[in-house]
Amino acid sequence: MSHGSGPRPATARKSADLSGTIRIPGDKSISHRALMLGGLASGETRITGLLEGADVLATGRAMQAMGAGIRKEADGWVVNGVGNGALLAPEAPLDFGNAGTGCRLTMGLTGVYDFETVFTGDASLSRRPMARVLGPLREMGVQVRAAAGDRLPVTLRGPKTPTPITCRVPVASAQVKSAVLLAGLNAPGITTVIEPIMTRDHTERMLKGFGAALSVETDVSGVRKIRLEGRGKLTGQEIDVPGDPSSAAFPLVAALIVPGSDITITNVLMNPTRTGLVLTLKEMGGEIEVIDSRQVGGEDVADLRVRHSELSGVTVPEERAASMIDEYPALAIAAAFAEGATVMAGLGELRVKESDRLSAVAEGLTLNGVDCEEGAASLVVCGRPGGKGLGSASGAAVKTHLDHRIAMSFLVMGLASEHPVTVDDVSMIATSFPEFTEMMTGLGAKIE
Ligand code: S3P
Repeated sequence: MSHGSGPRPATARKSADLSGTIRIPGDKSISHRALMLGGLASGETRITGLLEGADVLATGRAMQAMGAGIRKEADGWVVNGVGNGALLAPEAPLDFGNAGTGCRLTMGLTGVYDFETVFTGDASLSRRPMARVLGPLREMGVQVRAAAGDRLPVTLRGPKTPTPITCRVPVASAQVKSAVLLAGLNAPGITTVIEPIMTRDHTERMLKGFGAALSVETDVSGVRKIRLEGRGKLTGQEIDVPGDPSSAAFPLVAALIVPGSDITITNVLMNPTRTGLVLTLKEMGGEIEVIDSRQVGGEDVADLRVRHSELSGVTVPEERAASMIDEYPALAIAAAFAEGATVMAGLGELRVKESDRLSAVAEGLTLNGVDCEEGAASLVVCGRPGGKGLGSASGAAVKTHLDHRIAMSFLVMGLASEHPVTVDDVSMIATSFPEFTEMMTGLGAKIE
């Protein structure tokens, strides 16, 4: 996506009684993987509920550039895959815009092919570390040319025959795990990923669904060993993408902090590797009712009824971080309206997201009158129930640093603060949740 139209600021103001029912757009992680595996598998994959955000569309364009047929029909997306091992060399650099998941997973998917692929991205993605993926790829025999510090732009060229490896993921990262597994699809023999801390498992689930020979063993201490047999056949599937819990986080927190609110969010993915925020908010006293738990396409899904609640600060267990890694900015906003302190630790990975989210959140909170303390990998937020004195009477804008989740979090904050909250740019929201402003204003939120 081009971000050439310049920054677009927006302001959120104190609102009352958010109400209504919304259906959150498709999960970003599952949407990327659906286009990738659909584009790789033999035959046709039909996808309903695909997130049509800029990040996912960039992955779709990359798969098209490597030979996949992808088109939108009235009832969903249709992908015609090339067959495992049969991707074509892209003629131009693959531009992933703001999307770390699309970029890193595709590096695994095509980096091991015996042709050259160039990866580029926007200013945010070009600052993010790629060594975590490039290291294992180098071990598999991939030649790498990269900007200083293993950053984008990156050029990859695979060997004639990639070597299957055993990789112990160095940080809790589903992107690293997934990149290695996707690379393993094109390596003869068994590729093994050892995952000491479980992260979202959509890649494993979907690979199995497409027919890959993949097994997972979990030992008594919770360490997972994922084994994938390379060069097997993948067959097109029907995929129904559930709603993204990382997007649901924003209306969810908004309803908890705006007095009088009562909303229902339908079709939310409840995979246990993604539910850390719901669990934490319930511990804080949030009235979140999980309704009609069901299975959709091999994933747990439910509707959430959320009512305004008196929240209290909690200490979030460090080991929960992987199951809510994208939700800390939204949690920090809930914490700003809770009685007492909320302590969050184990947040080192937040420093290498679309922005340095730890400092972006701390700066935004401080700017809007919230008492907080940023540590090297921790954040403590002392809340003010009712939001008295919070926000910025002068209209000073939160710096979003090309980060969609910083923009959405602070707009949510403004709905319950005494003074308005302004963010410097909302254009990046389109990367993950293009309908955000419309959906929130439909519930009664004042955002303009
Ligand atoms: C994702 C994994 C997480 C998450 C990102 C999506 C994925 O990143 O933050 O938004 O789809 O695999 P890391 O693997 O870097 O933790």
